[in-house]
Formats: sequence, C-alpha cells, structure tokens
Amino acid sequence: MDSFTDKVVLVTGGGAGIGRAAALRFAARGARVIVTGRRAEPLRALGAANPGVTFTAADAANPDDASRTVQSAIDRYGRLDVLVNNAGAGAILPLARATAKEIAAIFAANVIGPSLLAAAALPYLADTGGSIVNVSSTFGRKAAAALSHYAASKAALDHLTRCWALELAGMGVRVNAVAAGPTETEFLMERMGLSEAEAEAVKADERRRIPLGRRGTPDEVAHWIVALAAPAAAWITGQVVTVDGGLGIP
Ligand SMILES: NC(=O)c1ccc[n+]([C@@H]2O[C@H](COP(=O)([O-])OP(=O)(O)OC[C@H]3O[C@@H](n4cnc5c(N)ncnc54)[C@H](OP(=O)(O)O)[C@@H]3O)[C@@H](O)[C@H]2O)c1
Repeated sequence: MDSFTDKVVLVTGGGAGIGRAAALRFAARGARVIVTGRRAEPLRALGAANPGVTFTAADAANPDDASRTVQSAIDRYGRLDVLVNNAGAGAILPLARATAKEIAAIFAANVIGPSLLAAAALPYLADTGGSIVNVSSTFGRKAAAALSHYAASKAALDHLTRCWALELAGMGVRVNAVAAGPTETEFLMERMGLSEAEAEAVKADERRRIPLGRRGTPDEVAHWIVALAAPAAAWITGQVVTVDGGLGIP
C-alpha cells in the first residue's frame, strides 16, 4: 500500500461526498489532510472524529480565498504535496433560461477556483515534487441536454489538466483528473438545487443508463483520486481517468 506519511494534502469541498471520502482515504494512509468548505461546522465535526484531518473554511469559487487556503496549509504544516480540486458547482440549466450570473457561478467554482488554487499551490508543489488531482465528470466528455454549462466547465477542467501537465512537468509536478459518473452524494439536491422527487427521478434514469446498473459510491471515486496522487502513479500525468460504471463509453 502506498504511504502518504508526512505528506500534506489539501482537499477542497472535503466536508461531504467524494471529497470527504478522499480526505479519509488520504488520512488512513498517513497524510495530514486539510479539508475546505464554506460551512465550518461539518468540517469541525469531521476533524474532531478523524485525527490527521483539519480544516480551513473557504469558498473555492471566491478568488480571494485561493491564496489564503494554500497559505493555511503552509502555516500549519510547512509544505504541500497534493492539491485535490474537488469542490464543484452544477445546475440543471436549459440554454433558454441560462443567465450570465448562473453561468459565471458554475465556472467560478469549476474552472476559475481550481486555476487560482493550483497557481497558489504551485511553488509548494514544485518544492515537494507533488501533484494535482482535479475532480471532473463523465459529462466533461459526454454531451448532456440541460447540463451544457456544467458539462462545458468540466470539459475545460479536463483540458486544463492536460495543459497544466505539460506546463508543470519540468517542475516535477504531475496533474491528473478523475472524471466521476453519477455518485451517491448530496450533489443533486444541494449543488444542483433539485427537489427530493426530482433527484429521485434523475437517479432512476441514471441507473437505467449506467451499464453497470447503479450509481457509484464516493469511496469508489476517492480510491482513484488517491491512486493518482500516490507514488505508484509517478509516471502518470495529463490523464483523465473515468470512474463511472461505463456511462461514458462512447
Ligand atoms: N455526485 C456526483 O454524482 C458527481 C458526478 C460527477 C462529478 N462530480 C464532481 O465531484 C465533485 C464533488 O461532488 P460531490 O457530489 O461529492 O459534492 P457534494 O457532496 O455536493 O459536496 C461536497 C462538499 O463540497 C463543499 N463545497 C461545495 N461548494 C464549495 C465551494 N464553492 N467551496 C468549497 N467547498 C464547497 C460542500 O460544503 P459547503 O456547502 O459547506 O461548502 C460539501 O461539503 C464536484 O466537483 C462534482 O462536480 C460529482
């Protein structure tokens, strides 16, 4: 098993869902993990229950929070080995009613935030030979009606992953992404703003369309986030690994 002993890992949106599962997996392998989220309370509870996990309240969609977030890891531990850009925003947004504000909110969380966090983290990742793992979506590659701006923001994140991999390879920094398929988290209700009935209808439809017949668990996605950051992946960069029960098979 790869060890992250003495490594410092920053996971945005680590209080729930995929980010939380990844934070716990990193911590179980010996990492000191800092999770972020906009609400402090769930993060405080996570840290209290899990030695090795601390938190910084920060909004990945707020450009002013990026350098403060990275600095909090440096102030606490003096180094940074892994940045997981996990926090994301999405919306069911048919083109006919898309507004500039809603489109900007999606790109702020899914494209601008990860970019500014990566830029702020870069000198520290270069010092440690570290890596970045971006959390993308099957819909970064697969087209989806009424999800165009979410899907396009994840397509942008996929391509940022490849471009940064080229740009940062000379500094010894690897950049990869995990493109998740429909996963059992609060994303549909909390992030997409669906009612319980709407979320259940989407889930039933997804189960029908996923070749392996079910939605994934956060831990099934988190496994690959940790794997791409691990020493065993030292020769992997610029890749988007799809973890989606086969939904994205062309
Ligand atoms: N779930 C899926 O089906 C699915 C599928 C494909 C891809 N993904 C991607 O996987 C990532 C994680 O999704 P998830 O479903 O695990 O999320 P989630 O369960 O909806 O939320 C995870 C955490 O993110 C935090 N968060 C949300 N917006 C944030 C922001 N702007 N800054 C900092 N923290 C923020 C939330 O806490 P606060 O509200 O307190 O900030 C929450 O604790 C996203 O990038 C998403 O696009 C998810």
